Amino acid sequence: MSIETSCDETAISIIEAHGGILKPHFRILSNIVLSQAKLHAKYGGVFPSLAKREHAKNLVPVLRQVLRGSDFLKTKGKKQEVKLQKKIENLLAREPELSKQFSEYILTIKKPQIDLIAVTQGPGLEPALWVGINFAKALSLVWEIPLVPVNHMEGHIFSAFITNEEFSIPPVAFPLLALLISGGHTELVLAREWMKYKIVGATRDDAVGEAFDKVARMLGLPYPGGPQIAALAATAQKDAEDDAENRGKEGGEILRKSTRQFDGRATSVKLPRPMINSPDFDFSFSGLKTAVLYTIKKIPHLTGTIKADIAKEFEQSAMDVLLAKTLAAARKYNVKTIVLGGGVTANKKIRKGFRTAAKSITDISLFIPQQQFSTDNAIMIGIAGYFRYTKEGAAKSPSRIKARGTLSL
Ligand code: KG4
Ligand code: ZN
Repeated sequence: MSIETSCDETAISIIEAHGGILKPHFRILSNIVLSQAKLHAKYGGVFPSLAKREHAKNLVPVLRQVLRGSDFLKTKGKKQEVKLQKKIENLLAREPELSKQFSEYILTIKKPQIDLIAVTQGPGLEPALWVGINFAKALSLVWEIPLVPVNHMEGHIFSAFITNEEFSIPPVAFPLLALLISGGHTELVLAREWMKYKIVGATRDDAVGEAFDKVARMLGLPYPGGPQIAALAATAQKDAEDDAENRGKEGGEILRKSTRQFDGRATSVKLPRPMINSPDFDFSFSGLKTAVLYTIKKIPHLTGTIKADIAKEFEQSAMDVLLAKTLAAARKYNVKTIVLGGGVTANKKIRKGFRTAAKSITDISLFIPQQQFSTDNAIMIGIAGYFRYTKEGAAKSPSRIKARGTLSL
């Protein structure tokens, strides 16, 4: 069973795992992701104490749904003894609602057939992480099941391999380079074997997902901004294509001459590609965000068309930089596998850009998560937990597991 509460998704899943690190094979038995995004939208971003409160309110209902979706409740096992109640109460003392629901539900059901609990330890919002960790500790105590802490970013790397309800992680060729792009992270991670990571490049300021969210806000779009920007940019793309087609109708000659105009129409917006040629593998997205701000300030009437142009150019700029840096790092470290992970990999333009580039590089395999597994989920935490457990075993003193907001790979 895996539990994820690092940001604004309350997610729990149950997966069956075997094969160890060499031949890992998984079956998804039950999987629920409850998003709080709508609640945070009015704040324009994730509001930590609200996120924590929502996790505390929703963990037991989500778990109930996860267990209902499987045969676990029907399995053998004894009802929990009441003597643990005091310990559980202490653990969940700060979350009265969670504590109450825990007593009313968990302490009254039979122990499900689960061998291991994996929980996100970090990075993320500490108050949100703590709720998930305390919940996992309480479950581990009541059910006497070992606990393994998981790095959320490692989970994002594994999410690229989730294909169906049942899937294997293929024997990948190392070195492997992972580009992790989410709301809190933009980093290039080099691995020479599973679970041995070295960060070779990272953002010096904003994460790319954060830039998407902030630019969306400037354009009057709600949180989370990534999908909003993508949708708006797609309308600009469509307009540009229609324009080109119309010009084509007037005469083929014009169409050929207007390729430049096709890329950027008369209203076209030009944004920088920060650090694209720097000799390192670092990123900077705060300047790009500021460039958008200046562009907006210069335009007296921000029409829908111009907003769409800004969205399109912003998306293109982010894509160009991410791709250029990833390919440069791949060359430098002679990597054989590239893996993308994190919420921003849900972006169609970015997915397509990487796929197209990979076609012409025959000696590198590229893995991109399915869109539904790009953003936070618990399956990826379960996979990472299984790998950790196989390699290092469970936590020796589960009660000592702490939330670590800035945990690094
Ligand atoms: O991995 P994730 O779900 O949570 C974190 O660990 O941060 O990533 C969330 C981020 C948000 O910034 C969101 O705007 C971005 O992923 N995102 C996207 C898209 N879908 C989500 N960014 C660009 N295009 C998208 N389609
Ligand atoms: Zn994430």
